[in-house]
Amino acid sequence: MSTPELEIMALRERLDVWSLAYHRDDNPLASDAEYDTALRRLRDLELLHPEYFSASSPTQRVGDTPLGEFVSVGHKLPMLSLDNAFSGDDLAAFEERNAAKLGVHSLTFCCEPKLDGVAMSLLYEDGNLVRAATRGDGSSGEDITHNARTIDTVPLRLRVLSCPKVLEVRGEVVIPRGAFATLNAQQAQRGETVFQNPRNAAAGSLRQLNSRVTATRPLVFMAYAVGYTEEAELPATHSHTLAYLRDAGFKTSGLIECVEGWAAAEHYVERILVQRDAMDVDIDGVVVKVDDFAQQQRLGFVARAPRWAIARKFPAQEEVTRLLGIDYQVGRTGAITPVARLKPVFVGGVTVSNATLHNVDEMARLDIRIGDEVIVRRAGDVIPQIVRSLVDRRVGNPETVIFPSHCPDCSTPLTRDLDEAAIRCDNRTGCPAQQKAALEHFVSRKALDIDGVGEKLLHQLFDTGLVRSVADLYELTVEQVAALDRMGLKSAQKAIDAIDKSKVTDLHRFLYALGIREVGEATARALAAHFGSLDAIASASQNALEEVSDVGPVVATHIRRYFSLESNRRLIDRLLHVGMDWVDTQESSHANAVLAGQTWVVTGKLESMSRDAAGALVRRLGGQTVGSVSKNTDVLLAGPGAGSKLSKAQSLGLKIIDESEFAKIVSEAGV
Ligand code: IVH
Repeated sequence: MSTPELEIMALRERLDVWSLAYHRDDNPLASDAEYDTALRRLRDLELLHPEYFSASSPTQRVGDTPLGEFVSVGHKLPMLSLDNAFSGDDLAAFEERNAAKLGVHSLTFCCEPKLDGVAMSLLYEDGNLVRAATRGDGSSGEDITHNARTIDTVPLRLRVLSCPKVLEVRGEVVIPRGAFATLNAQQAQRGETVFQNPRNAAAGSLRQLNSRVTATRPLVFMAYAVGYTEEAELPATHSHTLAYLRDAGFKTSGLIECVEGWAAAEHYVERILVQRDAMDVDIDGVVVKVDDFAQQQRLGFVARAPRWAIARKFPAQEEVTRLLGIDYQVGRTGAITPVARLKPVFVGGVTVSNATLHNVDEMARLDIRIGDEVIVRRAGDVIPQIVRSLVDRRVGNPETVIFPSHCPDCSTPLTRDLDEAAIRCDNRTGCPAQQKAALEHFVSRKALDIDGVGEKLLHQLFDTGLVRSVADLYELTVEQVAALDRMGLKSAQKAIDAIDKSKVTDLHRFLYALGIREVGEATARALAAHFGSLDAIASASQNALEEVSDVGPVVATHIRRYFSLESNRRLIDRLLHVGMDWVDTQESSHANAVLAGQTWVVTGKLESMSRDAAGALVRRLGGQTVGSVSKNTDVLLAGPGAGSKLSKAQSLGLKIIDESEFAKIVSEAGV
């Protein structure tokens, strides 16, 4: 071989290996710059030596001249759909049916996530990609070879030792959630269509006549089956075939598992369901497949679905319901939140009758009208959202919803700060809704945690005029509380005791309880740890405040504004006067700050202490604690029963420790 030919071959091989490591294994072997330099070199050499052209070169993924129209192609084997199972019982029946037909007691199943994307079939002849097609009606689809070739996870050539003459690989084209968010942000910025969800975006990107557009979309192909073959030596089971496809260069799900019997399959379903929200791709269930090909063959098909596979569907995360009205809630800081009142609908595993509309901008974007049919989404623990209105189903021309101009509670004209999404009622001290919300915040668990004084009692106290500000709570008598409607002497005493007990607290709780705008629990902790006393915080300069890890210019301004108001200073004086007290710590000691600079999350049930106590220990050792796992988390302390936080930490490759390891760190630090 000539020198340029050798170099071209070597570059192609190296780029293929790097690409697989990056796209299939999420384990980059080279930097982006190294990859780009090698690709450029290869392109230059190929231009100089057109005689060594190869359609499977990594340079051939950029997209072609646009097509005039799509061509229909027949599938050599139909692309089937799947029957659905909605419960463990359905899976049990599925196993019983098949085991009886085969004359066996139980079956080995291959379980895999059911990816919520677009099906695609890839045809390889002598190892080269020759055609890609959509599912279409199952018998024939559209030729999308030009688009498939631009997808990094579609091998242009199989990496196998002995090439099958013909091999058809089937799988799902998806867009990962993170990439979807970025794509939509770009689309919006360019004034182009914003996609409803990753599946629609994947479908739209695959059905492009211009493959240069497809090339810019973050599509990922994940293989899940083999279709038609000629002269292919494939393994005897589905699970081994997936491993074969992976070796051949395809991305496959990392969550594939073989199990014995339906109960184990259902157990797999439960484990995947817990991880669902933390995953990077949308899934809508689990596919359970009889693993043995010989058994699959004997079971065969009914109508358009195989007998040997079933889709165990998850509860839908989106449903259609009707918008009955919109309420406007006044928050603690005066922000007005529009809340959609919905005809109750079962979605994401619960009945939903309200959904947040966030703010005036979101309302404008949705342009919903009262009476509209709307799509409601509830994913995991996230509060229900309205995705969009089904405008086509709108009857007549209902009026546009107009955001109120005055506070629904105190009638003060509403204002909107420049560059802020929220519309507010600025009547902070006189607006009953805000005063009540401030009281609720003050007694809440993360603030002063006054057990026995709930929302109902607070509203009664407020409405009867007994309590207008949080300081009034500490001047209440048992008799006053006992005289309220439906209050006995015993519960009144309990409430007063709880209020009394709350006087001894921590600086960070007190600070959080004050309800300073943008000062959440974590910020309050950071401020308390940094300054050590309330006086130091109240008199801190803008610059001094901004030195605290959690505090930026906006938060610092809110803190300064809070303490500059005479009414707030008076309130604090009154609270101190009634006996609120905590131990000031001066600048936190750094002697045993072994966790300094680290961010921890605590989850699950711990044996020897509560999660709060563990968090306090982390902070005492100089670490920071947060509530949710992200790529910025350093360590997850996980006890038994840890759920989605654990799986997310695993998927992000974070350090995970158990209670005994934690105990060791604590004792080694001498605490
Ligand atoms: S196997 C004959 N496995 O679900 C078996 N399908 O309702 C055919 N899908 O259009 C499919 N993830 O595109 C299989 N791991 C998976 C899947 C999967 C998603 C899609 C597939 C098909 C639909 C069937």
